[in-house]
Amino acid sequence: MKDFLSSLRELEEAGSAAINTAATAEELERVRVEYLGRKAPLTQLLRSVGRLPQDERRAAGAEANQAKSRLLERLEARAAEVVATPAEVSVELDLTLPGRSRWRGARHPCTLVTDEICEIFKELGFVRARGPEAESTWYNFTALNTPLDHPAADEQDTFYLSEDTVLRTHTSPVQARVMEKTRPPVRIVVPGVVYRRDPFDASHAPAFEQIEGLAVDEGIDFVEFKASISYFVHRFFGEDTETRFRPSFFPFTEPSAEVDVSCLLCHGEGCSACKGTGWLEIMGAGMVDPAVFDNVGYDSERYTGFAFGMGVGRITMLRYRIPDIRLLYEGDVRFLEQFA
Ligand code: DAH
Repeated sequence: MKDFLSSLRELEEAGSAAINTAATAEELERVRVEYLGRKAPLTQLLRSVGRLPQDERRAAGAEANQAKSRLLERLEARAAEVVATPAEVSVELDLTLPGRSRWRGARHPCTLVTDEICEIFKELGFVRARGPEAESTWYNFTALNTPLDHPAADEQDTFYLSEDTVLRTHTSPVQARVMEKTRPPVRIVVPGVVYRRDPFDASHAPAFEQIEGLAVDEGIDFVEFKASISYFVHRFFGEDTETRFRPSFFPFTEPSAEVDVSCLLCHGEGCSACKGTGWLEIMGAGMVDPAVFDNVGYDSERYTGFAFGMGVGRITMLRYRIPDIRLLYEGDVRFLEQFA
């Protein structure tokens, strides 16, 4: 009887420990078979009651049945716990957790500025156009009244892909491509990447974005040119920003100008951003040279127009006060995600 009772206690303790550590319904079922199934030691112990001396059977049977009931009770209670908080369900499928949002990327600040500029010119009737980045020397230089012995066409400044193909050095060749295919009036803005053999430093990049503009019609004069550019400056930089046209030279415009805006930081007082001048240069521009019209088959007696080209990186740096152009092209997400 003493052996019987100590075996019973051992089995009950081991069984209840196994029940408590079972973490899933399957584990619990395995524990049930092991401790309470037909071949379990406890079942065999119960069967052995008949072999005990007559006067001990009753008490032994009662003890064994109570132990079995307690284990069954424990098993049921544990089954409820395991179903309510199964480990894998709480980790993967808690429907009460708030959704996890994923970062889907942000538009590049140059893209934001490009879109904003194109939208402003859209208000003046300009539509977007595009052209190839691998460009013939004809469109990149010659059609634009730039002879191939001009310093701009020099191998020092230009990436040549072959003798007569370059990585375009500006978006201006798209002017010639569009005019060749379209009758006037033409009003286009051309965003795109251009390439130059420049060092990669705080203010230069070997590949960068430009936006080209071209307006051609009968009767476009210098006043319309200045008014259009000033409209853009006011819309983009603010009503109190002033515009200045400084005489300059480009082979494809006559007269040519460089356009400055009053310094956005010091408003003309003079600071380090404008190198004390009070002005920031934003684009090259001018009235289309009649030689360009001749090259694309436009009647240069009948049509006039203006054109402009600006560096998007430079304008983006002004807009967001970015001190180094390399920040725009290093692809550092920590920098780029700020402009979403
Ligand atoms: N293509 C010139 C450059 O890359 C910019 C430019 C100047 C474009 C005058 C024009 C223009 O259309 O009229 O520096």
